[in-house]
Amino acid sequence: AAWEKQVRHSSTPRRVNGFSVLVTGAAGFIGSHCSLALKKRGDGVLGLDNFNDYYDPSLKRARQNLLSKHQIFIVEGDLNDGPLLTKLFDVVPFTHVLHLAAQAGVRYAMQNPQSYVKSNIAGFVNLLEVAKAVNPQPAIVWASSSSVYGLNTENPFSERDRTDRPASLYAATKKAGEEIAHTYNHIYGLSLTGLRFFTVYGPWGRPDMAYFFFTKDILQGKPIDIYRTQDQKAVARDFTYIDDVVKGCLGALDTAEKSTGSGGKKKAPAQLRIYNLGNTSPVPVGRLVSILEGLLNTKAKKHVITLPRNGDVPYTHANVTLAYKDFGYKPTTDLASGLRKFVKWYVNYFGIESKHSKETQHFDESS
Ligand code: NAD
Ligand code: UGA
Repeated sequence: AAWEKQVRHSSTPRRVNGFSVLVTGAAGFIGSHCSLALKKRGDGVLGLDNFNDYYDPSLKRARQNLLSKHQIFIVEGDLNDGPLLTKLFDVVPFTHVLHLAAQAGVRYAMQNPQSYVKSNIAGFVNLLEVAKAVNPQPAIVWASSSSVYGLNTENPFSERDRTDRPASLYAATKKAGEEIAHTYNHIYGLSLTGLRFFTVYGPWGRPDMAYFFFTKDILQGKPIDIYRTQDQKAVARDFTYIDDVVKGCLGALDTAEKSTGSGGKKKAPAQLRIYNLGNTSPVPVGRLVSILEGLLNTKAKKHVITLPRNGDVPYTHANVTLAYKDFGYKPTTDLASGLRKFVKWYVNYFGIESKHSKETQHFDESS
């Protein structure tokens, strides 16, 4: 295969800094940022992504180009391709897997429920089946989601809070992932760390997310919907900036225990860990929109509508004490500063002439 030739002849996935990391979903938003950060500090990185068209694949290709400039190669393939995954582990002795590939998005689950089951449940199981049989087993850090807290009313959310009321099928598949991880940890001694990300945003972000399409629609003079809860309260999110999340992912990889199993045989149970990675400061969607209006110097056409029953939860709010204690996770970017960086990237990427384009001429592609 083309990738094998590439991988065998490049130094890309070899260990430099001690780690050799398989990043699944490397052409995605969080995966591309994490791959770059790992590479920059000297770790070996190989990506895997199926480049699906859930959102514009040209953005995934652009991220891939950026990664390839940094000598990071992405194998094009699906999580459900067992022989491909086995082959990857045969060719590269991965010490870690950063598993970010998934069907993301909350509301799309009502249109295409099966894609969530395929990638987030079947695909995850497939990866774990392959990883458990590798000797020595890699430590796995994977993306869970704040959505597992569902309709909780505790505020803020702590890892021990109940997660038995998922409001969307997306949330249910992420919750299922946590249960499945528990099983593979218990039976096969796989080292597994789940990260519950909270509405992550930033440059190179996802076009299906509100901050992204609000920016597009505001610039195009199109109306936007701002959800309010059934009882007319503001909907709020603990919006978390990508660089903070990347630091959290690297911290989780650095503190992951070695797996205790090998070749599918369990020795002693490695830890199963779950952490919130949020910003600890929920912001109402209306405030997100006014920050964007300011940055874009354009008034939004706002429609405030009652939140339909579409899988959304009324608010999210992370308690990150555990991640701070175990690997020093501390979010440092507030929403206004983070959105400023996003808008700077956005106008540059889409080549938009605006009051901002002057400021963005010296845009750094990776920030
Ligand atoms: P993303 O959609 O940009 O990235 C996911 C990548 O995985 C995509 O490039 C996609 O092509 C790939 N992929 C999907 N299914 C695949 C499969 N079956 N095989 C191979 N590749 C596949 O999303 P993201 O925002 O970068 O999210 C990364 C992870 O974090 C996901 O697991 C997501 O559920 C989770 N998460 C994201 C957020 C957020 O706000 N961005 C919040 C909570 C959790
Ligand atoms: C995001 C990601 O899309 C999920 O993949 C991820 O798992 C989840 O975060 C998480 O934290 O676990 P969400 O918070 O719904 O999900 O992100 P957006 O779709 O960008 O919505 C952000 C906020 O805007 C939400 O409060 C939503 O209710 C609101 N919204 C969305 C509107 O007010 N209007 C819209 O038209 C769309």
